[in-house]
Amino acid sequence: MSIENTQKAYDKWSEQYDTNVNKTRDLEAMALRQILADQSFDSILEIGCGTGKNSQWLITRTKKLIGADLSAEMLAKAKEKLSGREATFIQADITQDWNFTSDKFDLITFSLVLEHIENLDFIFREVSQKLSGSGKVYLGELHPFKQYSGSKARFETEEGQTIVPCYIHNVSDFTESASKYGLKIEEVREFFDEDDRTKVPRILALVFGKG
Ligand SMILES: C[S@@+](CC[C@H](N)C(=O)[O-])C[C@H]1O[C@@H](n2cnc3c(N)ncnc32)[C@H](O)[C@@H]1O
Repeated sequence: MSIENTQKAYDKWSEQYDTNVNKTRDLEAMALRQILADQSFDSILEIGCGTGKNSQWLITRTKKLIGADLSAEMLAKAKEKLSGREATFIQADITQDWNFTSDKFDLITFSLVLEHIENLDFIFREVSQKLSGSGKVYLGELHPFKQYSGSKARFETEEGQTIVPCYIHNVSDFTESASKYGLKIEEVREFFDEDDRTKVPRILALVFGKG
């Protein structure tokens, strides 16, 4: 087993990210589509877009999509999937100043990204600056209950198992940090394997707005 830095780990994972069995990836895709169904946006900033699992759907909801991600190899897959579409993909580390765009967005999404980020305050500060006045933030994460029961972002290669560095954020860590930057919680949803609410929830999804 090895624990790699996040960028190297995702560069390596990119080869199999779309084809591995991965209930978390698939359930989060469903959560995002359900929560944002029937909505459209002038512009979307997709943080940690990865291989473009959600970019493919988000592009159908907007005239302008920017995807940002730390891993060049994950981004390469997203670019392939969306070639010919009005989408821009940028390599960026979201723990550093978000100077990769000077625009404001109607929707900013995070899917399975913030578990890799220790300092939520910095992220919500940047989000509040990039969000338009009526904008929304969608966040879909591995549920903290699932993290307590041992789930982590990990994958297998011939060299063995790689674990990506992860941090546990409780629901109130997200809401309190967002609130410091004027973002109010509008929706809290939990998604379960096989839609079975007797199980530990797998995905926590939150929607924030400037209220
Ligand atoms: C589990 S993948 C999720 C990808 C995609 N959003 C999805 O749902 O399939 C996490 C993504 O977050 C990205 N990521 C992690 N830390 C990051 C950082 N500091 N800055 C930008 N992207 C980051 C990784 O490179 C990876 O593509």
